[in-house]
Amino acid sequence: MTKPKVLVARAIFPEVIGKLSQHFDVESNPSDEIWSKPDFIAKLKGKVGVFTTGSERIDAEVLAASPDLKICANMAVGYNNFDVDAMTARGVLGTNAPDVLTETTADFGFALLMATARRVTESEHYLRAGLWTKWSFDMFAGSDIHGSTLGIIGMGRIGQGIARRGAHGFGMKVIYHNRSRLDAATEAECKATYASKEEVLKTSDHVVLVVPYSPQSHHTIGAAEIAMMKPTANLINIARGGIVDDAALAVALKNRQIAAAGLDVFEGEPKLNPALLDVPNVVLTPHIASATIPTRKAMANLAADNLIGYLTKNKPLTPLNPQVIKG
Ligand code: GLV
Repeated sequence: MTKPKVLVARAIFPEVIGKLSQHFDVESNPSDEIWSKPDFIAKLKGKVGVFTTGSERIDAEVLAASPDLKICANMAVGYNNFDVDAMTARGVLGTNAPDVLTETTADFGFALLMATARRVTESEHYLRAGLWTKWSFDMFAGSDIHGSTLGIIGMGRIGQGIARRGAHGFGMKVIYHNRSRLDAATEAECKATYASKEEVLKTSDHVVLVVPYSPQSHHTIGAAEIAMMKPTANLINIARGGIVDDAALAVALKNRQIAAAGLDVFEGEPKLNPALLDVPNVVLTPHIASATIPTRKAMANLAADNLIGYLTKNKPLTPLNPQVIKG
């Protein structure tokens, strides 16, 4: 009996390919080539499922050229690489990989916050460059984390994880803004108080962004929002490129309008605005917030289990558009 065909768009754990191969005829990409759109479309020919990372775009053109496709399983919680409306219109299921990365990503959000506030990478570069010849009283003085005000914009599962770390671990006052206010029990557990976006920006010592990307959240933080922040404040983006206007941020950092920024995601990544490389008061990391091996394995397995669950039992685990599931 011939097995249904699936495509795994990027290199991934061999055991995940092994698991998929028990059910499917798998075409994988062990050399981790970045395919052009026409190449991706050609690879999708005859495939009923595709395993994507956040880097492969599934849009109306790809869908129109791939009539056999039934499911796109993203190994990411964010799914702004999917045109979910176009998928729904064609009866194609989308799935993402929530929950399994929440705590690891919240850990990283906190790591980036601490590295930024305490100038960890800037001071390391100074030391590695052989510039450290004597101690001085204000050398690389940064901002306190304990007891300060942490503002979180986007209070989903990851935002809540960051709030818990700040409130319970560091005695921070936590305020947050979200599309909808959390229920009282969750607010109490996170020790977090709801505030307007303006209040979060104006009163926080550290602002952490964890909002999903959509056309509505594009440039949630631009020049006007940065202008509301305290000159001593730090801005952390672990959400998505495009949530921050990177060009405006680079100008603000250069002019010391805010103290510093920590960025794990960028507009147009893996390229980034070169102006960000010219300012010392920014910590830059290459989209690694969920990057621990156990978490990346859990994400990959969840994406694979979505393909297996849907294509063999009509039961995906984390569907984005469940209305397309028949029967
Ligand atoms: C990473 O950015 C994700 O969305 O999982």
